[in-house]
Order: sequence, then C-alpha cells, then structure tokens
Amino acid sequence: MIVIDKLTKSFPHKDKQGKQTEKLAVDGLSLAVRPGEVFGLLGPNGAGKTTTIRMLTMQLKPTAGCIAYGGRDIYSPGEAQRVKNRIGVVPQHVNFDQDLTVGENMELHARLHHMERAERQARIAELLNYVELTDVINDNVRRLSGGMKRRLLIARALIHKPQILFMDEPTVALDPQVRRRIWDLVRGLARDGVTVFLTTHYIEEAENLCQRVAILNKGKLSALDTPANFKEQLGKFTVEWDGENGREYRFFGEKEAAAEFAGKQEAAGGILIRPTNLEDVFIELTGHKGGL
Ligand SMILES: Nc1ncnc2c1ncn2[C@@H]1O[C@H](COP(=O)(O)OP(=O)(O)OP(=O)(O)O)[C@@H](O)[C@H]1O
Ligand SMILES: [Mg+2]
Repeated sequence: MIVIDKLTKSFPHKDKQGKQTEKLAVDGLSLAVRPGEVFGLLGPNGAGKTTTIRMLTMQLKPTAGCIAYGGRDIYSPGEAQRVKNRIGVVPQHVNFDQDLTVGENMELHARLHHMERAERQARIAELLNYVELTDVINDNVRRLSGGMKRRLLIARALIHKPQILFMDEPTVALDPQVRRRIWDLVRGLARDGVTVFLTTHYIEEAENLCQRVAILNKGKLSALDTPANFKEQLGKFTVEWDGENGREYRFFGEKEAAAEFAGKQEAAGGILIRPTNLEDVFIELTGHKGGL
C-alpha cells in the first residue's frame, strides 16, 4: 500500500516583477494506492505529475507531507535502500548512456543493484525478450527508435523485480501500435502482482489501463475515482453540437433524456449523442483538453 499524506513541494520562483517567491508545484496531495493496482495520475502540463513521481521515488525531497510504503515512511532513517530495492522507475525523459549498447545499459543497471553475474545474464535475457529487444542487444542505444527506447526504459526499471513500478508518461510521443504494446506490458505486470503508478495526459491511456485515476490540477487533487464512476457521475450520455463558441456539451444520466434534449436542438449543427468518455470528465474538471 502506498499512502501519500498532504504531500507538498514548493520551488523558489521569480514572479513577473523579478521578485523571489515560492511556487507550489504539488499542494497538499493525499491519496492511497492499493497493492497490485494500476493507478493513474492525470493532469495537464505543469500540473505537478513529474514532481509527485520524483518525490515518490526519492529523487526529490518533499517540502512537507509524508509518503509511506507498507506503513513505513520512505524518508525515515535507514529506509532508503529498502525503498530503492522495492521500486522501479521509468522516467519521463530517456536517460540512457547513449554510447553504450542495449545490453551494456542493462548490465550497468543490474550491477547497480548488486546482482550476481549469472542472475544478471538470465534476467537481462528474460527482460529483453519480454520487451522484444533481444535482436538489438548489441546495438548502441542512440540507434534505437523512440518506441524501442521506451521499451528499454521499462526493461531496465524491472531488472531487480520491483514490487512497485512508477512510470512517468510511459507512452509519450509513441505511435498507437507501440502504445498498445506498452499497455499490454503494463497489464502483464499487474497480473504478476506489480503495483503500477503512472502519469499520463493521454486520457485514453488512463481509461484503458487504470483501475483508478486521480486528476491533478495546479498541484491539487481535483478528483479521484474509477473511470466508470467518473463517467457515471457526469452522466453516461453526452449530447454535443456546434454552439456559438465552438462545440458545446451536455451530459445526461439516461439515453432517453439525451435524445429528448437533442430532439429540441434540431436547428443546431453537427448534433451528436454518444457515450461520455474520460476526456469529457477531464475537461469538466480541469478546463483543459487532454491528449496534448
Ligand atoms: N526543479 C524545478 N524548479 C522550479 N520549478 C519547477 C521544477 N520542477 C518543476 N517545476 C515547476 O513545477 C510545476 C509542475 O511541474 P511538473 O514537471 O511536475 O509538471 P507535470 O505535470 O509533470 O507536467 P508535464 O505534463 O508537462 O510533464 C511547473 O510549474 C514547473 O515549472
Ligand atoms: Mg511531467
């Protein structure tokens, strides 16, 4: 169980007049993630997702608040090594040594985790097979495509069999096929009992992959629920049409009510009744369009 309690991070910041102030990147975030859950942190650019992940993975010390794994505060003395053994991290930006080969990068990481030679070799072979990169084991990382690099980041994060995997925008800028391939990998990990905490601004990703989703906006938690409950609360049916200021949306709990409303808007162009999706929820809660 991951328990986050009033987690806060402020950075020094210069305002427009050049005066030194504080910027709250994460502002009193509290939530809990269950073991084996795929949990999504969704939010527009600058919402505080990466800052949250960096605090959860001990790369950045919180200004205030508490993070506990299995009931133990990760920042309490002597906890750091135990935490590092339990977690794997897929960062937002690729950070390999580009001059090393795929195999050498994996080897380096395995050594950092003090794995024995035979164990290292077996695990590297198993993981490269899992992410379908066995054929490029001797290629320099700089020669890999973006999708291959992302898959290698996942393999690298899994080298020491972590119980919790943090993924910061795991499929950013990938084509739909590679994205789906990564979703399959994540589902497979969850089936094996790994807890997955991911950030994304692809609504479709959260909807397809996450059991529960927290929506973060300007460092604050706007809402937390299952994708199905979010849609149910907004209204499972959406009527949209061309309004004076672009597309307009109304949400209804019952299909009949949506149809009745749409029937009265005959003069409106492009009228459409469709199931509500998580993007509608996201826009309602944050005022931002997702999928940037
Ligand atoms: N090291 C830092 N120093 C100062 N400000 C920072 C630092 N890191 C992040 N911030 C600020 O904190 C806020 C949250 O940034 P963060 O990177 O966590 O957002 P994000 O949700 O991951 O955004 P994105 O979707 O663009 O990756 C932003 O306003 C950012 O400018
Ligand atoms: Mg980020």
